[in-house]
Amino acid sequence: MNSEQLNTIKKYAKEQMVKLGLHGWPHIKRVERLCVLISKYEAGDEGLDLEVLRLAALLHDVAKHLEKKGDSGDHGDDGAVMAQNFLRSIGFDEAKASLVSHAIRVHTHGEEPLSVEARILHDADFLDKQGAVGIASVFIKACLTDKTIEEVAEMYASENPKPSYVAKHIRWLKKQQFYTETAKRIAGKRDGIVHAFFEALKNELDVEDF
Ligand SMILES: [Fe+2]
Ligand SMILES: [Fe+2]
Repeated sequence: MNSEQLNTIKKYAKEQMVKLGLHGWPHIKRVERLCVLISKYEAGDEGLDLEVLRLAALLHDVAKHLEKKGDSGDHGDDGAVMAQNFLRSIGFDEAKASLVSHAIRVHTHGEEPLSVEARILHDADFLDKQGAVGIASVFIKACLTDKTIEEVAEMYASENPKPSYVAKHIRWLKKQQFYTETAKRIAGKRDGIVHAFFEALKNELDVEDF
């Protein structure tokens, strides 16, 4: 991949992500950085294709704005097709475009990833819903849907909160579902941050006098 191709890919990915709103493109940059970090520990004897991984990270949510509008049943499925067509159109060979497409397709609906690049993308994407970034995302969603700090704390404390946009993100904060050992280690650290934060929040909200 030359720098001209990379710039074209970033421009395309950013255009799609901006349609989702302010937080779309920063998510892609975080996932790309996490992918590169995890790849350092997960290459194994067979190695991995860092170019495929970075392309998959940059393009993995290109169809999410369609899903949000109701024009896509699954942004993994549709994003895989969009990414494959786009990569072909700028001169990538079929083998590379297919590997990127596979990683994007399986990042959403629980289908078993068949490549190390797909496993890493899945884990990096999921890690970005956890830890301090995950907490920040929950409160952004709370703000967007008129939920108070107290309501967020109650949803976190509840085993089975009433379904809502915020409750979905809280469920992701608690969920641990990773393929790679490296992601599991990072998730363990992030999980500690989440527990400590909500414990501290509960203590502050419970104060009656001092
Ligand atoms: Fe996604
Ligand atoms: Fe994502």
